[in-house]
Amino acid sequence: MTALAPTAAAPALAPHADTALAALGGLRINGARLLQRLNELAAIGATPEGACCRLALTDDDRAGRERVIGWMRELGLQVQIDPIGNLFGLRPGTDDLPPVMTGSHIDTVRTGGRYDGCLGVIGGLEVVHTLNDAGIRTRRPLVVAAFTNEEGARFAPDMLGSLVYAGGLPLAEALDRIAIDGARLGDELVRIGQAGSAPLPLYRPHAYVELHIEQGPVLDAEGITIGAVENLQGISWQELTLTGQSNHAGTTPMRLRHDAGYAAAAIGHFLRGLTKEMGGNQVATVGALTLHPNLINVIPARAVMTVDLRNTDETRLQQAEQALNAFLATLAKEEGVTITSRRLARFEPVVFDAGVAALIARQAQALGHSCRPMTSGAGHDAQMLARLCPTAMVFVPSVKGISHNPAEHTAPEHLAAGADVLLRTLVALGA
Ligand code: HGY
Ligand code: MN
Ligand code: MN
Repeated sequence: MTALAPTAAAPALAPHADTALAALGGLRINGARLLQRLNELAAIGATPEGACCRLALTDDDRAGRERVIGWMRELGLQVQIDPIGNLFGLRPGTDDLPPVMTGSHIDTVRTGGRYDGCLGVIGGLEVVHTLNDAGIRTRRPLVVAAFTNEEGARFAPDMLGSLVYAGGLPLAEALDRIAIDGARLGDELVRIGQAGSAPLPLYRPHAYVELHIEQGPVLDAEGITIGAVENLQGISWQELTLTGQSNHAGTTPMRLRHDAGYAAAAIGHFLRGLTKEMGGNQVATVGALTLHPNLINVIPARAVMTVDLRNTDETRLQQAEQALNAFLATLAKEEGVTITSRRLARFEPVVFDAGVAALIARQAQALGHSCRPMTSGAGHDAQMLARLCPTAMVFVPSVKGISHNPAEHTAPEHLAAGADVLLRTLVALGA
C-alpha cells in the first residue's frame, strides 16, 4: 500500500461546471426521502434516551453498515469495502476519470445524535437518487463513502479509517488498535464481516466534498443556512494515568496523601483556567475519567483520564500542550503521584481548498441560501481526504449548537438545503 502524494490543486477543478449546472435546471433533492433514510438509520442502535449509539465496529455499526450497503445497491452503485472497513458506492460517469467523492461516517459516539456523519453519507445517497431519477449522468464517476471509526470514541484516533485511506497510518498498525473495551480493531472488522479486500486507497478522488452538521452554535445564532468550510482546527488527544496510593479516607492525614483522584480533579481545573487565560479558539475537555478502586472510603490509588485540546492555531495548540506538561510535572511532585501520558491522536489544523469552498458558496448563493465561511471545531474525514485531493465541506446549522447529544437537531429545510448545495457542487465538480 503506497501513500498517495497529495495532488497539486487541479488547474480547473470544474471546467464545465456552468454547462452542467444549467442542465440541472431547477432540480432539487427529495427532502422527505432524505429525512426518511436519516430516521431509518437513526433507529439502528437507538437508546431508550433517544440517542444513537453505534460505536465503531459493534453489532449496531454492522447493522448500520448493512443498511447503507442495501441502499447503495438499490441505487445501482458498485459497492466495495477496503481492508480498514471503509465503504464505497461508485456511480459510473460517462468517462472513466478520477471520481468526485462525497461521504462521511455512520459510526457514532455513545450519546450520538441522528445527523452527525449520517447526513454526509445519506446526503450523498440522496444526490445519487436524485440524479438517477432525473436520468443525469455526470462526466466523472461519483463515489459515496462511509469511513470507519470517524468518532474515535471506541478506537483512537478519530478519523482512523480516512487517515489510513490517506496514508497517514499504516494498515497493520490500525488493525492492531485496541478499543476502550479491550477488543482489537482487526478482529472486530472480521467479526462483523466488514474486512474488505478492495485496494487501499481504492480511488484517488478528483475532489472531495463532505456535507456535515456544524455541531457548533455559529450558523444557528446568526440565522445562516449554509457554511462553506474553509479550515478545521488542530486536535491533541492523550490518555493520562495517575498513580498514587490507596489509603483510608478517615485515618490518613491530608499531608500524607498521594491522592490520584484529587490530582485528576486538579488537572481538570487547571485546563479550564488555561483556556480562560489563552482565550481565542483554545478548548480543553476531560471527557473520560475512571478512578480505582472507586470506593467512597478509599483514597484513589489510580486515575485514568483523557485530555482533548484543540486550537485553530498550531503554535497556540503546542503552547497549551506545553503548559499542561509543566503543570503535570509540578502536580506530580506536590502530590507524590506519578503521571504517564499515552498519545491517542495529534492532527494539525487543516486549510481546505479555496476553490472548492468558493464553489460551495456559489451554489448556496444560486439557491438563494444565506452562506458564510466557516471554521470547523470538530474533526472530520474531510481533513484526511484533504491530504489527497482538493477538499472542502458544506455545513448546515445545529440548533443551539448541540451535538454528541440526543438533542442534536437540524431543521428539515436546512438538511435539504445542505443536500441541494451538495448536489450542485458534486455536479459542477463532476462535469
Ligand atoms: O472528535 C471529533 O471532533 C469528531 O467528532 N470525531
Ligand atoms: Mn462527524
Ligand atoms: Mn462526532
